[in-house]
Amino acid sequence: MFSKTFLLVIFCIDGMYSKTRIIGGFQAVIDNYGYTVSLQFDDEHICGGAIVTPTMVTSGAHCIRYPKETYSVRVGSTYKDSGGRLYNTSKIIIHPEYNRRTADKDICLLFFKESLLFDWTVRMIALPDEDSKVRIGTTAVVTGWGSTKLNDPYSVSPTLKGVYVDVVSFAKCKALYPPNSITNSMICAGSRKPEDACSGDSGGPMVANGLLIGLVSWAFSCADVNYPGIYTSVSSVVDFIENNTNAMSRTQ
Ligand SMILES: *[C@@H]1O[C@H](CO)[C@@H](O)[C@H](O)[C@H]1NC(C)=O
Ligand SMILES: *[C@@H]1O[C@H](CO)[C@@H](O)[C@H](O)[C@H]1NC(C)=O
Repeated sequence: MFSKTFLLVIFCIDGMYSKTRIIGGFQAVIDNYGYTVSLQFDDEHICGGAIVTPTMVTSGAHCIRYPKETYSVRVGSTYKDSGGRLYNTSKIIIHPEYNRRTADKDICLLFFKESLLFDWTVRMIALPDEDSKVRIGTTAVVTGWGSTKLNDPYSVSPTLKGVYVDVVSFAKCKALYPPNSITNSMICAGSRKPEDACSGDSGGPMVANGLLIGLVSWAFSCADVNYPGIYTSVSSVVDFIENNTNAMSRTQ
């Protein structure tokens, strides 16, 4: 039983079963979630992301296979394939301590040469304080389009979806998952409704009380109420975001 479980987790972390779509949830319009972006490569949506500065978005480290290539980011659209505006990345920085095997510190920063044009459909989301804790049971919203993963090619959502999840206690989450799979840089959240439990799009934002508290990272299995989703805890990587934001603005 345990070894099967463990293999599944490894499989998840390798990306095949990383969270690829929102099951259940609600149709969303970008006006209400203007910080949400679609990360694209070769004109294909691959992951979600969030706008945190005028020239930078965050996404998942596991989303980036070719860190030296140019990716594009669609902002300000409910539709992943049209509308809004596309920006090419000028630089991508993956967290130096990102661990592909464990998905620890699963975050990357994508920079643009020019500032994004802000309006009601394009806006920033605030970051939490470093190492601040989110209260257990806090309701958060996860937004995304679902990705064009090979294992699930027909479930992609052309329009933005959202789902509400509740933050689960770290101790409870650790107890549910195999030993050492949940690190201090992860935060767990889930829904009691099975159709909502697969809550998101890799790299995409989990927001509570106006703050970006998590990035969709991985899960044990989609739509299983017994296993909350695992998110990168943004408060644990805020120093990485801020160090690089300041470094980039100094060089520009
Ligand atoms: C992004 O880069 C591609 C390939 O170099 C180019 O064709 C496209 O015009 C660029 N788009 C923008 C919005 O700069
Ligand atoms: C951020 O910068 C501080 C101060 O220079 C440094 O101690 C810390 O290791 C840096 N952290 C990351 C993740 O870059």
